Amino acid sequence: MSREGPDVSEIRRGRVHADQVRHRLPWLHLAYRREFLKLAGQACAEPVAPARDDRYGIVLNVQRGTDMRFECHVDSNPLTGLLFCTDHQAGGELVIAHDAAAADVPSVERNCSIIRPHAGHVIYFDAREHPHYARPLTVSGIRIVAVMNFYTESCPESTRPRELNRHLYGDA
Ligand SMILES: [Fe+2]
Repeated sequence: MSREGPDVSEIRRGRVHADQVRHRLPWLHLAYRREFLKLAGQACAEPVAPARDDRYGIVLNVQRGTDMRFECHVDSNPLTGLLFCTDHQAGGELVIAHDAAAADVPSVERNCSIIRPHAGHVIYFDAREHPHYARPLTVSGIRIVAVMNFYTESCPESTRPRELNRHLYGDA
């Protein structure tokens, strides 16, 4: 769910969709269901499951240049894994609000944790109550993050909002 201010009209970003990951990076598609699933299980008190729906299990988020960033939002899934694929001199940080009510980027920035991407690092978190976004790069380059959705028994895949699939994939 978006947490952008009303004055924000367009946010540019790139994405490698889950079906493209499956066809072009089959090793990553498999690792999501094997190695990264195992690590996810260690990060969570409950048993963890990968998405059954291949459209949103694992995707790559891509920022090129210095004007792309990732939309400020809260997650609908109970556990997200991020595999950082690139390093950066400056910019591209993941910024996570401490305040669940933060409704735009300036309020997120006022009280937050900041995670600098390092290629090869993987993190897991529950961001249903913590608005988050990725800052633009400040030196031109490319930022790539593999984003993995995981589900639990108390928050299964069936709870994923249908509006989200409609918004992203034009689902009925
Ligand atoms: Fe997220």
